[in-house]
Amino acid sequence: MRTSSLLWPALLAQNAIAITVDTTSADSLKSAASTVAHGLMSFYNGNDTGMTPGLLPQPYFWWEAGGMFMTMIDYWSRTGDSSYNDLITQALLFQASDNRDYMPVNQTKDEGNDDQGFWAMAAMLAAETNFQNPPPDQPQWLALAQAVFNEMATRWDTSSCGGGLRWQIFQFNNGFTYKNSIANGCFFNLGARLARYTSNDTYAQWAERIWDWEAATGLIDTSYNVFDGASVTDNCTGTTRLQWTYNSGIFLHGAANMFNYTKGSQTWQERTAGLLKNANIFFTNSIMEEQACETVGTCDTDQLSFKAYFTAWLAQTTALAPFTFTTIAPLLAASAKAAAAACSGGNQGTTCGFKWTTSSYDGTTGVGQQMSALGAINSALIQIPQAKAVVPVTNSTGGTSIGNAAAGITAPGIGMSQAMDRSAPIETKDKVAAGFLTFAVVGGVLGGSVFMALES
Ligand SMILES: *[C@@H]1O[C@H](CO)[C@@H](O)[C@H](O)[C@H]1NC(C)=O
Ligand SMILES: *[C@@H]1O[C@H](CO)[C@@H](O)[C@H](O)[C@H]1NC(C)=O
Ligand SMILES: *[C@@H]1O[C@H](CO)[C@@H](O)[C@H](O)[C@H]1NC(C)=O
Ligand SMILES: *[C@@H]1O[C@H](CO)[C@@H](O)[C@H](O)[C@H]1NC(C)=O
Ligand SMILES: *[C@@H]1O[C@H](CO)[C@@H](O)[C@H](O)[C@H]1NC(C)=O
Ligand SMILES: *[C@@H]1O[C@H](CO)[C@@H](O)[C@H](O)[C@H]1NC(C)=O
Repeated sequence: MRTSSLLWPALLAQNAIAITVDTTSADSLKSAASTVAHGLMSFYNGNDTGMTPGLLPQPYFWWEAGGMFMTMIDYWSRTGDSSYNDLITQALLFQASDNRDYMPVNQTKDEGNDDQGFWAMAAMLAAETNFQNPPPDQPQWLALAQAVFNEMATRWDTSSCGGGLRWQIFQFNNGFTYKNSIANGCFFNLGARLARYTSNDTYAQWAERIWDWEAATGLIDTSYNVFDGASVTDNCTGTTRLQWTYNSGIFLHGAANMFNYTKGSQTWQERTAGLLKNANIFFTNSIMEEQACETVGTCDTDQLSFKAYFTAWLAQTTALAPFTFTTIAPLLAASAKAAAAACSGGNQGTTCGFKWTTSSYDGTTGVGQQMSALGAINSALIQIPQAKAVVPVTNSTGGTSIGNAAAGITAPGIGMSQAMDRSAPIETKDKVAAGFLTFAVVGGVLGGSVFMALES
C-alpha cells in the first residue's frame, strides 16, 4: 500500500488518529465501539467455509472465543448493532456440542471448569439480554447455562480443602491438583445469576456455599483480596497470591446478583461494596490496569483479555446494585477514554493496544487487546440514560429463554466420576509425559499463574 518512504510522516500522522470518544455522548461511544468490534471480528474466521464455527486461530485457546462472543453479546445489547448476531449464535450453538453442555470432545485435552464456564456465561448473558433465541430444536441459552452449572455441582470436591472445584475437569490434565478462584468464580457467578433469573433458591444456596469456601480457604480474604488459587497437595494451606482483574470482577458481579436476588441483604451489600473497594488496586489515575503483569510487560495471551470481562462485569454490577454506580461510572469513563486513545495502531490507525494508562498505542495487537478496548467502550455506555436502562431480564421480567433445571444431568454430561473415566487423548498423554516444559502449551492455561504455583 505504501510504496515510498517519503510517505512515512503521513503514516505517522495517520497512526496518530486513534479513536476519540466523548464519554458523555451515546453516538460517540457507539461509533467507537463499532470500529473496535469490527477490528475484533477481523481476527475471527470460524464462519468462513471449511472453518470450525466458534474457534479462534492459534494462539487463542477455546475459552477465549467464549469470552469474545460474550463480549459481542454485550456489544449488541448496549449499542443495538445486530450485524454480528447470526455469527454469534452460530458459534455458541456449534460449540455447545452434541450433549448441549459446552463439553466438545475436541477440547478434552485442555478444557477446565473455567473454560467451560466462560462459554456458559456467554449463554447466560444471552438469556439475560433476551438475545435472539435459537430454533426450538437447538439448545436454548438458559438451559445451556443450567447444564454447565449442574455439571459443576457434581464436581464439587470434598476430598480435600473442605470443598471447592478443581481447576481442571479431567484428571489427566495438568492443574487437576489446583483449586482456583476462576473455576469457583465461574460456578459462583452462574449460581448467583441463575438464582436471580429463575428465582430457584437452590442456585443461591450453592452461591453461598462457594463464597463460604473461598473465604474459609483464604482465597478471598477479609479485605476482599481475591487470590489466584491453592493446591490440594497441601490441603490448600498455601495460597498463590496473584490477583487478576477477572477474579475480582467475576465475584463482584456474582455478589451484585446475590445482593439483588436477596432484595438488598446486608451481607451481600457488604461483600459487593468490599470487593469494589478492593478493586482500586486495578486502577491507576482511574484507568484500568492488569497490575500483576501489565506494569512489567509479562501478560500472556489469556491475561491480555481479562480487562474485557472486568469492564463488562463492573458495568453490569451497576444495574444490579445501583449503590455502586457513582463509584464505577467514572472509572469506566476514564478507562474507555484511555482505551480508545490507545487504539491508534495498524493501517487504519484504529487497532487497539493493551496498555491504557499512557493513552497511546503500545505497539501490540491481538484479540485480547481489541476485546478489552471493546469491553471498556461498551461499558462506558452505562452513563447514557437510555443505555443505563439495560437491566438483565429474568423469567418474571420478560426473559424468554427456555430453561431446563435438569440439563446436563439427564443428558450424559461430564461430572466428576465421568471426568475420572474419560480417557486421555493420545496426544495429551504424550504431552503430559513430556512434563512441565509443555505445560503452558497443554493447559487451557487461564491465569497462567498456575504454572508458577505448580513449579514452586
Ligand atoms: C463472517 O462474518 C463476517 C462478519 O459478520 C462477514 O463479514 C463474513 O461475510 C462472514 N463470512 C461468511 C462466509 O459468511
Ligand atoms: C472437532 O474437530 C473436527 C475436525 O477438525 C471438526 O470437523 C469438528 O467440527 C469439530 N467440532 C467442534 C464442536 O468444534
Ligand atoms: C483439609 O482442610 C479442611 C478444611 O479446612 C479440613 O476440614 C480437613 O480436616 C483438612 N484435611 C487434612 C487432612 O488436614
Ligand atoms: C435490583 O435491580 C433492579 C434493576 O436494576 C433495581 O431497580 C433494584 O433497585 C435492585 N435492587 C436493589 C436492592 O438494589
Ligand atoms: C418461567 O419459569 C416457570 C417455572 O419454572 C416456567 O413454567 C415458565 O415457562 C418460565 N418462563 C419462560 C419464559 O421460560
Ligand atoms: C431448582 O434447581 C435445582 C438445581 O438445579 C433443581 O434440582 C430443581 O429441580 C429446581 N427446582 C425447580 C422448581 O425448578
